[in-house]
Amino acid sequence: MRAKITATGAYLPEKVLTNFDLEKMVDTSDEWIRQRTGIEVRHIAEDEPTSALAAKAADDILKSSPLNASDVELIIVATVTPDQPLPATALFVQQNIGADNAFAFDINAACSGFIYALSVADAYIRAGMVKNAIVIGAETLSKITDWTDRSTCVIFGDGAAGVLLEATAEDRGILSIVLHSDGRYTDLMKVPAPGSREPCSEEAIRNRDIYIKMKGNETFKMAVRNIASVSKEALDIAGMDFSDVDWMISHQANKRIIDSVAKRVGLEDGRAIITIDKHGNTAAASIPLALDWAYKAGKIREGDIVLLNSFGASLTWSASVVRW
Ligand code: ACO
Repeated sequence: MRAKITATGAYLPEKVLTNFDLEKMVDTSDEWIRQRTGIEVRHIAEDEPTSALAAKAADDILKSSPLNASDVELIIVATVTPDQPLPATALFVQQNIGADNAFAFDINAACSGFIYALSVADAYIRAGMVKNAIVIGAETLSKITDWTDRSTCVIFGDGAAGVLLEATAEDRGILSIVLHSDGRYTDLMKVPAPGSREPCSEEAIRNRDIYIKMKGNETFKMAVRNIASVSKEALDIAGMDFSDVDWMISHQANKRIIDSVAKRVGLEDGRAIITIDKHGNTAAASIPLALDWAYKAGKIREGDIVLLNSFGASLTWSASVVRW
């Protein structure tokens, strides 16, 4: 028994923030942002919590499936920007789409969240616990972005996207998944408060501890190395090589990271999907956003080998090989 992706869906909030808009907010330029990150625009959720974005992505997924919301058995939302600490964002999604027969929970593995969530749903399906699952990556990073910090505010964006997984006896779907984390690097990227370590306080707000703090340059170097190695691990398990890969869909953190990985593994001939220009770094949402785009653009076809890979705070990295 395997889990195969039978539908994809996505949602980006209406408001668009361009690099030129950012030029008016911090000391930056369209040229710097394009050259250093590949980003042209990002979407910003105004009155919508993360669950509203995720629910719209779920509606989009179900639009291209014969299944109804009441047929869905499991909903997993990967996010670092939940609606609130309690309850899980996935429960708001369940309520919003009317998936009355599902059970639902969240996963936090930063930008690797989507592949981590995919691995859980895959395991539940292969174990026979559920026959289907909706897995969504959803973020409203604009809410934890320090809009006075040019080293982070030009990067992040909001959005949600995901997939429907269904049990299949065919030799397709998720062929392998490899997950890694290293807790020695929790300082590389963090939102220090509010939490049990640093509860909500005026001081936390004054110190801007409620916003993302990132050592971007160090993260960058580790990303390229680790994405390439975890991808090889996942391909080895599937009995494949980089030459078998039709499409590489990476976490869209920085176009330069994706280009460097593609060059390192011999996929620099257009097989690496790039959508960061359209939505910036949307953490857990970025892989399914790129996947949805590539599928609906007619690039990914039945039988294609799709390599998913990611790198996130702090540190998580993962890869999966999927036969479409
Ligand atoms: N506009 C203009 N100049 C800028 C900006 C900006 N927005 N931001 C930084 N600079 C300047 C810096 O001040 C520095 O100037 P200096 O040389 O005079 O000191 C110079 O540009 C270079 O700064 P770097 O930080 O070295 O820039 P870099 O090329 O590394 O790009 C970036 C920064 C885009 C953050 C990059 O490091 C990156 O993408 N890192 C990886 C991020 C990542 O993968 N995070 C993990 C996943 S996200 C998650 O888990 C939610």
